Amino acid sequence: MKIRPIEWQEGIVRILDQTQLPEWVVVEEFADWHGVAEAIRAMKVRGAPAIGIAAAYGIALAAHQFEGNNMNEFRVAMGEVFQEFARTRPTAVNLFWAIERMQQVVNTAATVAEARERLLQEAHCILQEDYEADVKLAQYGTLLLPPQARVMTICNTGALATGGIGTALGIIRMAYQQGRLAKAYVCETRPRLQGLRLTTWELLQEGIPFQLITDNMAGWLMAQGKVEAVVVGADRIAANGDTANKIGTYTLAVLAHHHRIPFYVAAPCSTIDLSTPNGKAIPVEHRDATEVTHIGSLRLAPQGTPVLNPAFDITPAELITAIITEEGVAQPPYTTSLRELCSKARLSSR
Ligand code: MRU
Repeated sequence: MKIRPIEWQEGIVRILDQTQLPEWVVVEEFADWHGVAEAIRAMKVRGAPAIGIAAAYGIALAAHQFEGNNMNEFRVAMGEVFQEFARTRPTAVNLFWAIERMQQVVNTAATVAEARERLLQEAHCILQEDYEADVKLAQYGTLLLPPQARVMTICNTGALATGGIGTALGIIRMAYQQGRLAKAYVCETRPRLQGLRLTTWELLQEGIPFQLITDNMAGWLMAQGKVEAVVVGADRIAANGDTANKIGTYTLAVLAHHHRIPFYVAAPCSTIDLSTPNGKAIPVEHRDATEVTHIGSLRLAPQGTPVLNPAFDITPAELITAIITEEGVAQPPYTTSLRELCSKARLSSR
């Protein structure tokens, strides 16, 4: 796996700028943590697990940049860093999960030097754990697919969005390697076109068979009997199983339900938020109107067009056939099964 969205290199955070893909493969180097926060906000790095990893390295970079040995001053400075990262993108819970892990390190370190060292180790751990989680959840997910499956997906949930092979796209990758995948249908994913620009880019590199479709073609394909499963990622899974993911996911879930096609959510346990009771309590990010009125820098809508641009929607738990994690597959009722998987995850991370 050669795609690395985030890397640490001797006091520098390197981020593959996903806003320039697939045309340009540009790696931006950040020696200042503010740049990493801005890269998350601008979606140069995106996808829930990758956002968490980038924030962890950004925080490690901030500690690296801190001058002096005064632990009180360090804690105050790091408090501001945590707040700044927490403000970047509100929906992906992996961001807050990673910040909390980093905060624990600052709370328990005795000296600035110790905190600096341990923060970097923690960021490496978060990356490595995500890499391992992807492989395990792909193993579970692949088993759920019928032979020669045609699988529909949305957004980009691959190596660009995680620390490993991806979540939903990791399952598609592994299913292909095991000869179980006939084809992936990739929804273009308006407005930011993560499917069209990023998922296609990843699949082409590995020769995985797929077809790109516009989002409004999904129902037609399902009605033709050409889809055996829908597999999507997640930005936050509430305690009851309601799931926030890229806008358009809910539409696919409703369509899948109507056509009796299994609808799977794939995510590491770091995306499960037991403190959020249900989908109504998940904050949905609204982004700039230009993402809708423009494609790239080209304006298509008339000037002055009023726009609504929610970046995510909520799929109710009753439309989800199963939730695939690195600790196993959660089945309804999710209130119980997700809690069990999260306890297993806590035990295995000790
Ligand atoms: O706005 P994005 O591109 O960060 O949204 C990404 C998604 O919605 C993904 O499906 C989700 O984060 C899972 S990535 C493994």
